[in-house]
Amino acid sequence: MSTTAVDTGDAASVHRGAPAGEPLLDARDVIAGYIPGVDILNGCNLVVHPGELVGIIGPNGAGKSTLLKALFGLVTIRSGTVTLQGENITHQRADALVRRGVGFVPQTNNVFPSLSIEENLQMGLFQAPKKFDERFAFIVDLFPTLGERRKQRAGSLSGGERQMVAMARALMMEPSVLLLDEPSAGLSPVRQDETFIRTRKINKAGVSIVIVEQNARRALQICDRAYVLDQGRNAYSGPGRELMHDPKVIELYLGTLATDVEEAHRPPAQ
Ligand SMILES: Nc1ncnc2c1ncn2[C@@H]1O[C@H](COP(=O)(O)OP(=O)(O)OP(=O)(O)O)[C@@H](O)[C@H]1O
Ligand SMILES: [Mg+2]
Repeated sequence: MSTTAVDTGDAASVHRGAPAGEPLLDARDVIAGYIPGVDILNGCNLVVHPGELVGIIGPNGAGKSTLLKALFGLVTIRSGTVTLQGENITHQRADALVRRGVGFVPQTNNVFPSLSIEENLQMGLFQAPKKFDERFAFIVDLFPTLGERRKQRAGSLSGGERQMVAMARALMMEPSVLLLDEPSAGLSPVRQDETFIRTRKINKAGVSIVIVEQNARRALQICDRAYVLDQGRNAYSGPGRELMHDPKVIELYLGTLATDVEEAHRPPAQ
């Protein structure tokens, strides 16, 4: 089995398995942090091509959320560049990025609990309120539950349902790329599966996606490609299913327990 997924620093290895052509989103050598003098991202690279579903996995504190926040203009980028469809968006603010087609669903506090589902979705479209009916129809087509329960207060929804509202709100502005930070966190296994199915559905509807996931195995199963971040740097990258079977990635980031358990329960060969 190969261990070629390791990132050796050259463009070919950093974005292994990426399609040819101009990327939709391209982050190069991004250095960023919260406190002066303390860098959290130490030269991160990420590309997303049109239609791709790209995963980011890695240990706690690796800088995954920081990378999404840096892409969305919420953390200052000290060095490096981010382009969207070839245009430099490095120091743009979040509201300008939303207008340009970038959607972001943060890890926590991602709905307005005192507002109804419908009002939450209106908030997502405050920059283009006239489009509400058209976009709401698109959302209800993807998530029929939200249409049926449009008057319900978001605060009274379950964790999985709130996550659905948060994704729907980000989709109201018709983003070309959606940044999702741990959408399955805190959900039961069944609800996690629903979240992954929903993510695939949104992607199939034409939206490119970057998904940060704590459930690394599931993320690698659904992603076209993934990046492993460690200490604010790219550690490994490649097609999701390849990374899932890479011995080094398994050892360092996926854990061998699940494989051992599978082995232990496999019936003996006849
Ligand atoms: N607002 C902040 N101010 C200062 N430091 C922060 C802030 N947010 C995160 N950090 C630091 O940045 C580092 C990376 O955090 P980040 O949240 O990006 O990690 P992560 O990979 O998303 O981890 P997790 O898997 O736990 O969500 C951590 O050391 C964290 O303490
Ligand atoms: Mg995080």
